Amino acid sequence: MAIFVFAGSKGGSARTVSSILLASGLRELGFSPVHAQLVSEGMSPSLSRIDGLPFAVSYTRSGNVKMFDAVLEASSHCGASHSHVIIDNPAQPIRKVLAYATDTRMRIFLPMRDGVQEIAQVIHDLREIQEETSASEEPLPKIWILPIGWPSSLKPKDYFDILSRRGLKREPLLALSVLHPGVPQLDTLDLDFRDDENRFILTEQQQDAAIRLAEAVLRANGEAQSIRSPDNWFSGPKSN
Ligand SMILES: Nc1ncnc2c1ncn2[C@@H]1O[C@H](COP(=O)(O)OP(=O)(O)OP(=O)(O)O)[C@@H](O)[C@H]1O
Ligand SMILES: [Mg+2]
Repeated sequence: MAIFVFAGSKGGSARTVSSILLASGLRELGFSPVHAQLVSEGMSPSLSRIDGLPFAVSYTRSGNVKMFDAVLEASSHCGASHSHVIIDNPAQPIRKVLAYATDTRMRIFLPMRDGVQEIAQVIHDLREIQEETSASEEPLPKIWILPIGWPSSLKPKDYFDILSRRGLKREPLLALSVLHPGVPQLDTLDLDFRDDENRFILTEQQQDAAIRLAEAVLRANGEAQSIRSPDNWFSGPKSN
């Protein structure tokens, strides 16, 4: 079971939307993920009032220091065992996340939108990860940059060039990769994932983005062989 943590210190950087897309995409591909949201004091969970969710959800107040343990425990109470745990963090300093993200199954996703400030914030977070991990005995966590709304023609190398032009030194951040092609720019008027009857729904564009994101995550995590395309999912073994 892999644990994917959407993190980052900048508010409104597409963690929640992308985490919901990833859960939906994994479900579309036949997996059984759980979406676990760490909810700031005074906020209500993003998915709590939507009916017909195709994946399990769990919520934890983010003031709870043992939050990752709590999420894992809550998700194991959600019923069947889960293929992937997707943790949606609020905006918070990355060292706070590292302090509890000690499970070696964890992969940290840093969404990066197209914009000078957004790139600078991701570089800031990456530097903080570098500082924290070089000062500790723990191995470097695996970190993936998740491009949001960038042209799909860009390749992973292009993102590294963009980051290094703006001052990121690649060494010794060896565990850094880019989730390619990331999440496209979606219609912002249509991102609350519910229909008029308050049931969970994805537009065709969102569904496509969700599946592509899930496939990219599985490939990056070395799970590509377990992707079952929706076509052969129900058909079972073919007889001649
Ligand atoms: N792929 C996308 N295309 C276009 N707009 C997006 C996309 N992803 C997110 N947004 C928009 O960006 C804003 C922030 O998204 P989201 O709530 O997912 O960010 P967040 O990082 O979870 O923010 P918070 O700091 O509040 O937790 C929302 O208005 C959302 O509609
Ligand atoms: Mg959020």
